[in-house]
Amino acid sequence: MALPDATLLEEALQARRRSYCPYSRFAVGAALLTTSGQVYTGTNVENASYGLSMCAERVALFRAVAEGERSFSKIVVVGGPADQEPQALCPPCGACRQALFEFAPDLEVLLGTARGIERRFPLRDLLPEPFEL
Ligand code: THU
Repeated sequence: MALPDATLLEEALQARRRSYCPYSRFAVGAALLTTSGQVYTGTNVENASYGLSMCAERVALFRAVAEGERSFSKIVVVGGPADQEPQALCPPCGACRQALFEFAPDLEVLLGTARGIERRFPLRDLLPEPFEL
C-alpha cells in the first residue's frame, strides 16, 4: 500500500525539529520516499564555517544513497524560522534540485507547511535546464 503524503509530511516535520541551525535560525526538514516505500529523512546541519552547512534535502538524499538506494518517487520539504511551525513554503535550493535530479529526474517535490501539503511540482519543472554531462 502506498505511503500517504500526510505520513511523509509528518516525517519531514519531525526531522525539522532536529535541525541544527544556530546561525540562520531557519530550520528545514525533508522526507524522501524510495520507489520501494522506504523513507529517508534529513534536516539542515550548519557549521560555524557557514559555507560547510548542508541542506536538509541533500542530507536525506545522501543518507539514502549511502544505504544503497538509487530510486526515488517523491520528497516532502518543510522549512521556516526555527521558533515556529512552518507557515510558508520552502522550495528546495538550486543545488538540491540538481543533486536530486542526478538520481530522480522524475521526482515529485511536495511543499508542506504545518497546515499540510500545499503545492506539488515535478522536479523537471523546478529545474528546467539541468546540468548533464
Ligand atoms: N536550507 C535547506 O536546508 N534547504 C534548502 O533548500 C535551502 C536552505 C538551509 C540551509 C541553511 O541551514 C538554512 O536553510 C538557511 O539558508
